[in-house]
Amino acid sequence: MLEQLSLAPSDPILGLTDAFRKDPNPNKINLGVGVYKDEKGHTPILASVAKARQRVLAAETTKNYLAIDGSPEYSHAVQELLFGADHALLSSGRVVTAQAPGGTGALRVAADFLHQHFTGSRVWISEPTWANHGQIFRLAGIQVQTYPYFDAQTNSLAIDALCHALDHVPPGDVVLLHGCCHNPTGVDPTAEEWRRIASVLAARQLLPLVDFAYQGLGRGLREDAAGLLILAEALPELLVASSFSKNFGLYNERVGALTIVAPTAEAAQQVLSHVKISIRANYSNPPAHGAAVITTVLSDPQLRQEWEEEVKAMRERIAQMRALFVATLKAKGVKREFSFIERQQGMFSFSGLGKEQVEALRQQHGVYIVGGGRINVAGMTRQNMEPLCTAIAAVLS
Ligand code: LMR
Repeated sequence: MLEQLSLAPSDPILGLTDAFRKDPNPNKINLGVGVYKDEKGHTPILASVAKARQRVLAAETTKNYLAIDGSPEYSHAVQELLFGADHALLSSGRVVTAQAPGGTGALRVAADFLHQHFTGSRVWISEPTWANHGQIFRLAGIQVQTYPYFDAQTNSLAIDALCHALDHVPPGDVVLLHGCCHNPTGVDPTAEEWRRIASVLAARQLLPLVDFAYQGLGRGLREDAAGLLILAEALPELLVASSFSKNFGLYNERVGALTIVAPTAEAAQQVLSHVKISIRANYSNPPAHGAAVITTVLSDPQLRQEWEEEVKAMRERIAQMRALFVATLKAKGVKREFSFIERQQGMFSFSGLGKEQVEALRQQHGVYIVGGGRINVAGMTRQNMEPLCTAIAAVLS
């Protein structure tokens, strides 16, 4: 039976990391997977996280299971981070959160829950979107459709086409939106555009599922939640899949959460009871360590302040790399206009490089970027900028 299978395609993002590891080129540069690197090209453990880890280990007395939906303190901390500590939703009882192994784990739990209870509802994802989105929902048995998102002529949001498409989606379908730092384009709606999107969703009775993986890496921790707050204001219900891989640098701890805002406190508890069944059938209950670290950071004023400064430093370094990237390409005599990269937000630059150029970068220059032309700006440094831009100039000439 098993021998009937041929080789599956490698993952468009993590498969690149595997290929990079195997590449013997000593000058290779990995700008594929969305992982932050500091100026030395190292993915650091944040100082706030390292201190919290010590405290967690010192205080730990058991390795007993967590509850199916994880730690209540963590859930509360996640909700405060999403909506702000004084948001009325928090005391309404309408918000519930289940701890999850990473943002991907949260998305998969959401997918299983939706498939189980809203058979026939489809999920609409942006075109383009994170390479894993379609697969997560399809493998959970959900039909996936796309809506237009990006205008390649102007390198901006195709807001009219987006709203027009959503205006034709049948009620009861789910619309996946990126909370901030859209992956892969780095193009986010303005507050006004969020309001337009929210009003179409409300009018069509669509359920938003917000993938929130880069909070703090765009404009700021609160600023990046602006779209989410607009949705929460306009709509009675929504789902949020949070990831803390990036803003806490906790990639391999797999820390995330699925948050549900329901129309009533009673409905929120009912939904959570079903989400717990999806979790139990998937991985039983979540891993403890990463979430305990995050709870410790967020609930200690000093550690929290240190963390907020570290997030700010990451955000500012990425912005500096954007500016340096654009300037270095210009200095290399590249004629193509790349200034739009400075307007994009978050870790990624959607470069506009085509399939052949991406391939040539890898094969001839050892520069690894994702197929659609997405470059991880957070992996650029002052050291790799010169060879990177020399390689891009060469493939463009
Ligand atoms: C990315 O888009 O590179 C990150 O979200 C990491 C991943 O899991 O793909």
